[in-house]
Amino acid sequence: MIETFKKDVDQGLKASTKTLPSKYFYNKKGDALFVEIMKLPEYYLTRCELDIFENKTQELIDGLDIQPETYFELIELGAGDGTKTKKLLASLANQNYTFDYLPIDISANALDLLEKDLCKELPKVSVQTQQGDYFEVLASLKKSKKPKVVLFLGSNIGNMTDDLAAEFIYNLGANLQAGDKLLLGVDLIKANDIVLPAYNDSKEITAKFNLNLLDRINHELGGNFNQEQFKHQPEYNESEGIAKSFIVSTTHQTVEIKALGKSYHFTEGEKIHTEISRKYNDDLLQKIIQNTDFSLETKILDSKGYFADYILKRN
Ligand code: AVJ
Repeated sequence: MIETFKKDVDQGLKASTKTLPSKYFYNKKGDALFVEIMKLPEYYLTRCELDIFENKTQELIDGLDIQPETYFELIELGAGDGTKTKKLLASLANQNYTFDYLPIDISANALDLLEKDLCKELPKVSVQTQQGDYFEVLASLKKSKKPKVVLFLGSNIGNMTDDLAAEFIYNLGANLQAGDKLLLGVDLIKANDIVLPAYNDSKEITAKFNLNLLDRINHELGGNFNQEQFKHQPEYNESEGIAKSFIVSTTHQTVEIKALGKSYHFTEGEKIHTEISRKYNDDLLQKIIQNTDFSLETKILDSKGYFADYILKRN
């Protein structure tokens, strides 16, 4: 793990256009900051998807088209605290659907809390947590031949380039059977004045979240980044539909990273690209899945029309 981190940081910082992978946001501090982000008035994504799970639960269930007498597996990639999913679980349990809920998350701590919470709030639901990188856990899905519904919510797919997203969905399909479903939650392309503030909140929590990457490098790799000499800079334009986060050096400077035995130079205004948050529409999604075994079946919107949960069927 630390070796991959070292390699990723070195490769990203020595490149002519500097980058750092967004997956490294999520250490303990980053997890806590993301929880804060989800509560921000500007960060509409989580609330919009919760609106769907609360108010369009039956549309979701009807769209999934599960036979009431069949036992199925409900698999969630990157489950987090399960707030949205609980609405769906409660409704399925009430209607006497029979299923196992299999949340997969990279954080053992998050899974532990989720399991305890579900045991208390929805004791009828059978829960089997799986800790791991969901790219790796995908293959283990194949072991069971039960019908499956896979949840991939929160526009988490938006951190992938379209090529990676296509590959990911292709691989997911390779591990499922005909008739299985994917419930994919994505943020939709919309105007700059709605999207940009979600990544540039007035309390500057998102700035802390982004800059925490530098802190992590300092702590884990012996770096000497001075956060005061870098700033958070989000960018978005509606025609492209991709929100991007950068860390910008506010001065000419050199940063040493002891674990790498190297120094890296930054010119004034030089950017490190840290994240993409892709926004979607029907055409983009069609393109992404065109060489996979999935087809689009249903699209369910929140009341503002900002966010969509698509139901895709494995052919
Ligand atoms: C968790 C990937 C959906 O891209 O909107 C929030 C992460 N980054 N604010 C997103 C994030 C900055 C978030 N996802």
